[in-house]
Amino acid sequence: MEKKEMFRQELVEVHGVPLFWTIAEAWSQVEGFEARPDDLLISTYPKSGTTWVSEIVDLIYNNGDVEKCKRDAIFNRVPFMELIMPGYVNGVKQLEELKSPRLVKTHLPVELLPSSLWKNDCKMIYVARNAKDVAVSYYYFHKMAKMHPEPGTWEEFLEKFMTGKVSFGSWYDHVKGWWEKKKDYRILYLFYEDMKEDPKRELLKILKFLEKDLPEETVNKILYHTSFKIMKENPAANYTMMTEKEMDHNVSPFMRKGISGDWKNEFTVAQNEKFDKDYNQQMEGTTLKFRSEI
Ligand code: A3P
Repeated sequence: MEKKEMFRQELVEVHGVPLFWTIAEAWSQVEGFEARPDDLLISTYPKSGTTWVSEIVDLIYNNGDVEKCKRDAIFNRVPFMELIMPGYVNGVKQLEELKSPRLVKTHLPVELLPSSLWKNDCKMIYVARNAKDVAVSYYYFHKMAKMHPEPGTWEEFLEKFMTGKVSFGSWYDHVKGWWEKKKDYRILYLFYEDMKEDPKRELLKILKFLEKDLPEETVNKILYHTSFKIMKENPAANYTMMTEKEMDHNVSPFMRKGISGDWKNEFTVAQNEKFDKDYNQQMEGTTLKFRSEI
């Protein structure tokens, strides 16, 4: 691979979806990812609750053993499959070395998902979050996570978000694509807002989907350790174990606010009107419905 600066570079399209150039360059490795039948895929559009659900599932896999779940950073316990950044990380290789049953993270839209995951009929948990909160969270994340291009102003970033010119492409296509796949594959489709509203109800859904039983006491323990407040202070969950070159928490912490409806602090009235109009067009005809506040 040619020696090129890794951070703050323009995105490169793979089958029409903008990705980090290092992923685009190594695309054949991602395509060739070999799934195992007992892999659990955790799929999301960025900033939708990936880390939250990953921590919950890792705790479930370890029967609520909190210390065991501090064995390593979340990005090593649940490797980010398609993330390839030479000298930093190779999700495909990381996963090859991981013992089964593996937890696999992806942000890929359905069209780009390596075929072996479909062929092996792997179970998948998808978490979706309302577009406005995702846009705001993604904006702050761009500022601190330098594998992304510079976001520009909020106004500029919002335009890029609405036109899908951000890494992993259009939020609209992503959530709709996975919603459709749910008809034919073993996908548990969750919403961030539901998890905020009633974390226990959603955790029980996950347990049922995984065909796992845990005592009430363990369920409550997992809920406590995956609350925003506790995860924010947990170095194995809050991304502070990543290098400052990759993420600068002084600019904006990874565990930023963890609420629903924060978009109201960022959107102007004009931006909101324009967004809603475009949203209705882009989401026309789908049965998928979101709540922008709870
Ligand atoms: P905010 O930027 O709105 O605070 P992802 O893990 O997909 O990158 O998503 C990150 C978003 O989820 C951030 O949103 C982060 O604060 C929030 N988050 C992380 N852990 C959470 C938790 N336990 N409860 C609620 N929100 C959480």
